Amino acid sequence: MNKSRSKKKSDEKPTLAAKPVAELDEAEAAAELKRLAAEIAHHDALYYRQDEPEISDAEYDALRTRNDAIEARFPHLVRDDSPSLRIGAAPVEAFGKVTHRVPMLSLSNVFDEEELRDFLDRIRRFLGLPPSEKLAFTAEPKIDGLSITLRYERGVLVQGATRGDGYEGENVTPNVRTIADIPKSVKTKGFPDPFELRGEIYMSRKAFQRLNEEQVKRGDRVFANPRNAAAGSLRQLDSSITAQRPLRFFAYGWGEIADLPVETQWDAYQVLRAWGFPLNPLIKLTHSVEEMLATYRNIESGRSGLDYDIDGIVYKLDRLDLQRRLGFVSRSPRFAVAHKFPAEKAITKLRDIDIQVGRTGALTPVAKLEPVTVGGVVVQNAGLHNEDYIRGIGGDGQPIRNGVDIRVGDTLIVQRAGDVIPQILDVVLEKRPKNAKPYVFPTKCPVCGSHATREVNPNTGKEDAVRRCTGGLICPAQRVERLKHFVSRDSFDIEGLGEKRIKELYEDSIIQSLPDIFTLAKRDKVAKIAEREGWGELSARNLFDAIEARRTVKLDRFINALGIPHVGEITARLLARTYGTAEDFVKAMRTAKSRQSEAFAELNNIEGIGPTVAEAIVDFFAEPHNVKVVDALLKEVRPQPLEAIDHASPISGKTVVFTGSLERMTRSEAKAKAERLGAKVAGSVSQKTDYVVAGPGAGSKLKNAKELGVKVLTEDEWLKLIGS
Ligand code: IVH
Repeated sequence: MNKSRSKKKSDEKPTLAAKPVAELDEAEAAAELKRLAAEIAHHDALYYRQDEPEISDAEYDALRTRNDAIEARFPHLVRDDSPSLRIGAAPVEAFGKVTHRVPMLSLSNVFDEEELRDFLDRIRRFLGLPPSEKLAFTAEPKIDGLSITLRYERGVLVQGATRGDGYEGENVTPNVRTIADIPKSVKTKGFPDPFELRGEIYMSRKAFQRLNEEQVKRGDRVFANPRNAAAGSLRQLDSSITAQRPLRFFAYGWGEIADLPVETQWDAYQVLRAWGFPLNPLIKLTHSVEEMLATYRNIESGRSGLDYDIDGIVYKLDRLDLQRRLGFVSRSPRFAVAHKFPAEKAITKLRDIDIQVGRTGALTPVAKLEPVTVGGVVVQNAGLHNEDYIRGIGGDGQPIRNGVDIRVGDTLIVQRAGDVIPQILDVVLEKRPKNAKPYVFPTKCPVCGSHATREVNPNTGKEDAVRRCTGGLICPAQRVERLKHFVSRDSFDIEGLGEKRIKELYEDSIIQSLPDIFTLAKRDKVAKIAEREGWGELSARNLFDAIEARRTVKLDRFINALGIPHVGEITARLLARTYGTAEDFVKAMRTAKSRQSEAFAELNNIEGIGPTVAEAIVDFFAEPHNVKVVDALLKEVRPQPLEAIDHASPISGKTVVFTGSLERMTRSEAKAKAERLGAKVAGSVSQKTDYVVAGPGAGSKLKNAKELGVKVLTEDEWLKLIGS
């Protein structure tokens, strides 16, 4: 089974990363610990601060396990910034901070029976108990949500806080008060004062699917999984939004507590339940490894039938006196451990391969699967990357298996590892139907019938992995995708005009091309937006207001919104800076049609714009239809030049790359500031880079900078350089 097909970019995978821990020498171990510290910090920040992880839990666990294994072999190499000494990411600024009176730590993991037995042996050894001494453990599901601490004073809920970095979390009191499962006060006699209850906030799978459907309708981003949805919902600055999100809660422990009238974890659970706190119904008391494993297997087999995600079983030593004696090692208790489940997999058949056409005409194949439940969520689509991937000859990273192609009718193993869109892990070749034929990738656009071709990269002479429809704006698929792109967040950012609405308005011929958006209100007597299903007076009026508000827009957004192939935010900004006004930009691009023109030479000379991009821009403006659209748009909107650049600044004309997380300002703020001071901000490090500003969590870019000898600055050094 192919496990190497991770989402990490290949430049982040030095060969050292593949070397078994046992074979590392000291220098290599030090280098690996350094790399892992940066990489784990990067993923922690994505997970805890942005609720947008880019790797699966299994991949993340593998990084941590490797880090722990290297540290175990070379304890003297443990770094000050080692992930093993840290729990999550530091809290986000917007919420007030709460210092935890008792730290909110994390659990170490075991993945199999042997590791579980080692865990038990360690406990016995630590406590000096013979193997014959029986120890009881609670076994309970590890809920895949986010941990919360709830403080009750005189029986009243006075504070709710997230874990944050384990020592300091975020104050989310108004938000936890909206959660029905959490008692706002406990009137029972003998209820400890103070009492800090700990547990997990989660979202049910049903609620998650419903929320995502609504998000799509509104044109808002969808959440990758129930845990991210729960985190995103809890960390709303406006608690009325949290109140609309169906969050749930299970209690599993406590922090500061005046007096707990019990001697075991099990009895504590019974008391918590009697006080009105929700406890998971699957919690068991076990008395041997065999019973622990039986509980593990039992709960795992029922896992997909649960309405919430769980990612393992937590075992906790039952006797509280022994828990106290065992205490903690770095970030985890010695008395408890998480026994993780493997990623959920399922076997299903490939019914068909669907080809979707994107904004720039890219033909993207999607696997249409016989619906199958993977981890409680029904999946029927999976990504197939591109033509070569299906043919088994490479493509996005690697094929499934070298030389193995994917055919309609094939039996596939799919995996859902923390993502909604599942991955295909393998083809079960023994089950391939005799008459199954290799898939023939279309060479015509399935939507408009135009030729679909693979460009040849002028630099490398290699064929692009992506096949594209050449139909441009005569292709309805490209038109609707372009409309979606035009109104999206980094372009015109029109509130109330999400993907679903744009599609409906396109299909009903109300909005056909970009300028139509701005004539919508004028034409409304005919279009009658308010009367449409799912609209109403108020939402129609709000939409018209939102559209009006965007008649002035920054030039870079305007250029980005046009959807020119290969032109994203960064290139759009370069163009906006170079040409100043929309009129000058359009004029220059039309003149550049002649490749001998000075305008073409000037475009090619812009640093950061290579030949492919330059050709794409000129081709776009050589198309009369596009020019017509741009002219019509410019009658409706007034693009604004970007702020003046300070050419006298010390970084004027320099190229800067930001990497890692910044602490004093957001990434967008830092970029904007650098550009105002005349610097170019690039996305990747090259010989042309003058400075790399590296914050915590910097990864491959920092490494590249060092290899290329580019000057690396800390955030403070950077601020000093620019004099702020
Ligand atoms: S006990 C000292 N029990 O897993 C930490 N944790 O990696 C004691 N979690 O931060 C935690 N279900 O967010 C415990 N039944 C359970 C849990 C659970 C989920 C989470 C919790 C914790 C993380 C540990």
